[in-house]
Amino acid sequence: MNKLNKFIHHIVPKNTPKTGSAKAFAPSNIALVKYWGKRDTELNLPLTSSLSISLDNLGTETRIASAEQDRLSLNGKALEASNPFYKRLFEFVNLVRTPDQKLAIDTNNNIPTAAGLASSASGFAALVKALDQLYGWNLDTRHLSLLARVGSGSACRSIETGFVKWAVGTQEDGLDSYAQQLPTQWPNFRVGIITVSESQKPMSSREAMIITRETAKRYQKWPDHVAQDLPRMETAIADFDFDRVGQIAENNALEMHACMADAKPTISFSSPETLAARKAVWQARCDGIGVYFTQDAGPNIKCLFLEKDWQALLHLFPNLEVVTPFKG
Ligand code: PMV
Repeated sequence: MNKLNKFIHHIVPKNTPKTGSAKAFAPSNIALVKYWGKRDTELNLPLTSSLSISLDNLGTETRIASAEQDRLSLNGKALEASNPFYKRLFEFVNLVRTPDQKLAIDTNNNIPTAAGLASSASGFAALVKALDQLYGWNLDTRHLSLLARVGSGSACRSIETGFVKWAVGTQEDGLDSYAQQLPTQWPNFRVGIITVSESQKPMSSREAMIITRETAKRYQKWPDHVAQDLPRMETAIADFDFDRVGQIAENNALEMHACMADAKPTISFSSPETLAARKAVWQARCDGIGVYFTQDAGPNIKCLFLEKDWQALLHLFPNLEVVTPFKG
């Protein structure tokens, strides 16, 4: 048995084929201290810990049902078995289902797929929750998180709501690398999404991480950056120190993108509109609005701000999609 099968075996109880169906939702999440780079590609183990905020009702709803034939639809559209997303999803499903079970999977994102809005995170988290229901595994959140991690690293943080920390772990078997919710509830914290493009990204984060790790000199210092940023971020969150949270998150994202820029060949997920949005956020800050940004492996910009600045920001960014991660 290879180490991935061993890992799965450790988490998932023995299955019997199931009839019926199951449905689950998982939120997308935005990292405030990023995960960028793996120490083990098979088990999807990260090189560093990371910390995110889950996006409430923005995410993925997935329905699975026993069927005669495997099939997958994404946002209402049936996908061919040759589609990369189909392959990736069923590769994961094959790890956990009984061999004779066929499944019809319908997955719906209310966020743009693959445009750097972490839809793979909510997608794999929702899938794992739905599989857990269908098979009646009754996994706790730790085991759901471990399982989701195999599908997509950041998916392990989408099992929980609010602020979530994914601990890097030290064990070779990967069983101590999972995400947990932080206790802080911050009702006036807001995340705003500036969608500059809904098109598919040119390169997967998986591929971009590998190239960055292998070729960017600047990346050698990335673990040190995260080692500094993470405890400072946790303290800032516990202290409700919004400016610290924003500064650390923005600097962390810029450092991640600087590492990518240093890769050979260079990697950029930004478009001219991305750079314009970054500048507009900086200008807003100069004008006294408490707003910071972060950016993932895509062109879109996510703003961090407090309730009091919502109206002012809507004037600047009329299309801002605002999420309230903590319901007061
Ligand atoms: O989980 P993946 O393979 O989609 O990678 C996510 C990478 C970032 O979104 C850029 C950072 C993060 O921590 O979510």
